Amino acid sequence: MKRGYLIALEGVDGTGKSTQCQLLAEYLESCGFPVVRLREPTTGVWGQKIRKILTEGRGEVTPEEELQYFINDRKEDVEQNIIPALEEDKIVLIDRYYYSTAAYQGALGFDPQKIVNDNESFAPRPDLLFIIQGSLDESFRRIEKGRDGFSSFEKRDYLEKVQKIFDTFDGNHIRRIDGDPPIKEVQRVLRQEVNGLLKIEEAS
Ligand code: TYD
Repeated sequence: MKRGYLIALEGVDGTGKSTQCQLLAEYLESCGFPVVRLREPTTGVWGQKIRKILTEGRGEVTPEEELQYFINDRKEDVEQNIIPALEEDKIVLIDRYYYSTAAYQGALGFDPQKIVNDNESFAPRPDLLFIIQGSLDESFRRIEKGRDGFSSFEKRDYLEKVQKIFDTFDGNHIRRIDGDPPIKEVQRVLRQEVNGLLKIEEAS
């Protein structure tokens, strides 16, 4: 089956993922590719439940329920957005995907590899997965600058655990990217990788 490409960006909060995703989308569109930009958690019913946890805290929500919310949200996204776009040969750029579930909910005590395996039973594996990593100090500075206040997940000890789990993933589709350099420099590295995947000739 001919299909498009799925490119995912992952990393702890404040690594500049969303900015990089936006710049990458602009680049690919300027090269003439049809791009679909997605983001998880989504704005669907499960995504809204998740946003509530992020703004109000976990409260009575158990870790099992939290994990299930993310899975339900992703199942919808896969069925309604990801698979249809890939079948139309589009390039899907997704800001967070199932590696976030493995890392963030893994940090609550679930087995990260099992979370990856469970997700891969219904969610297509990305052709390219960028894990953007940088110092947590820099991440916290960016989060503070970017919006008012921290979400309930943006706590240092929790994000340290999340980062450690991100460090354990490996595979041919994974590229670890240093997120600390200036935005333009990080973007240059991402574009190089994407050029390789999509056989885009670089302008000299
Ligand atoms: P995100 O939308 O990237 O954050 P923001 O809107 O604040 O930029 O993601 C929201 C949070 O959800 C982030 O802390 C990571 C977390 N998350 C999980 O815990 N599990 C998941 O599966 C996903 C997709 C996100």
